[in-house]
Amino acid sequence: MSTVIGTPLSPSATRVLLLGSGELGKEVLIALQRLGVETIAVDRYENAPGQQVAHHARTITMSDPEQLRALLEAEKPQLVVPEIEAIATPVLEQMEAEGRIRCIPTARAARLTMDREGIRRLAAETLGLPTSPYRFCDSLEELQAAIDGGIGYPCVVKPVMSSSGKGQSKIDGPDGVKKAWDYAMAGGRVAGGRIIVEGFIAFDYEITQLTVRALGADGQPQTHFCDPIGHVQVSGDYVESWQPHPMSPAALAASRDIAKKITDDLGGLGLFGVELFVKGDQVWFSEVSPRPHDTGMVTMATQWQNEFELHARAILGLPVDASLKSPGASAVVYGGVDAAGIVFDGVADALAVPGSELRLFGKPESFAKRRMGVALVHADDVDTARARAKLAASRVKPRAA
Ligand SMILES: Nc1ncnc2c1ncn2[C@@H]1O[C@H](COP(=O)(O)OP(=O)(O)O)[C@@H](O)[C@H]1O
Ligand SMILES: [Mg+2]
Repeated sequence: MSTVIGTPLSPSATRVLLLGSGELGKEVLIALQRLGVETIAVDRYENAPGQQVAHHARTITMSDPEQLRALLEAEKPQLVVPEIEAIATPVLEQMEAEGRIRCIPTARAARLTMDREGIRRLAAETLGLPTSPYRFCDSLEELQAAIDGGIGYPCVVKPVMSSSGKGQSKIDGPDGVKKAWDYAMAGGRVAGGRIIVEGFIAFDYEITQLTVRALGADGQPQTHFCDPIGHVQVSGDYVESWQPHPMSPAALAASRDIAKKITDDLGGLGLFGVELFVKGDQVWFSEVSPRPHDTGMVTMATQWQNEFELHARAILGLPVDASLKSPGASAVVYGGVDAAGIVFDGVADALAVPGSELRLFGKPESFAKRRMGVALVHADDVDTARARAKLAASRVKPRAA
């Protein structure tokens, strides 16, 4: 395949539509714009971060099959790029099978990864990758039986349809089972619904292995690996990340073997975020995003081509370079307040931290625990970068206007 790029807003335009236009989508859109692509940013609410930088903004309920189909038929983009999980993926599969859209990386990958059951069964049962022990349950009684029948304590309960730690909690003993069940029922994307219960892995650390499938000179997909990204999660949500994370050669090799197997199976072109737990030389597969990963925002400070540029290049059939430029770190800026149209104090103080950059996403509405921005720092070593990223993030003070 030899990629031809047209002129935006003309009949020759190369048109790419993003399903989901949050902070990650915004950066993908910017990367695509820089390559001369015409962009359409879709989200469920108006003025989403990516809609503020795209050529066109569309607001629909992406989990509604009729709305999604009508939009894709009207826009006729060359590529459809999912940025979130809550999408009516059967529509993508049908339209892809009919040859009417090309979905990134594939419509099947979007379907499998929107549901913890789809991706876990593929990884553990079809591909034989090491994972935590797990069961799927549809009632409190089934959950108790699964724990008593071998999962044991501590364990982690998650709605199968959820992301960013929503509805997810750890159970330390029999007293916590009902609370975890009720919490999962309230936090899933669909009312009621299934949960996965996983045995708790007492890992030494966890990483994101960014993995890119891009066309090589021979026109065939080749796999590229970024340096491992270490991160800290609080209540299932990422608060800081850094790159590179030091790993033993055996753990690194095992991580890349797992990442290669799962991304080969999901197929297509693009960047994937493979989440792995590591203890000594032992590695467990946790989950995978067939798209840029929130912990990978650090690559805006650390790589020659950040994860968004890698994704944009790969999906357009262009060559990529996944190499590291400098050690660095990211730290999340939370809203701190529940209010619309907030303001940020302390931006100059934050940017006075050596090697720092800031991304303020421009979300129209803030919540106390909503991710509103991120501090990025490059430095000579990861420890310095982490300390400076946290310092820079702490200096940004969101408040109601
Ligand atoms: N089985 C487990 N053992 C230990 N920690 C876990 C387990 N499952 C999840 N976690 C912790 O919770 C975080 C979020 O879980 P994850 O399955 O990635 O959910 P999400 O889709 O919301 O990101 C993980 O990055 C990890 O820190
Ligand atoms: Mg995760």
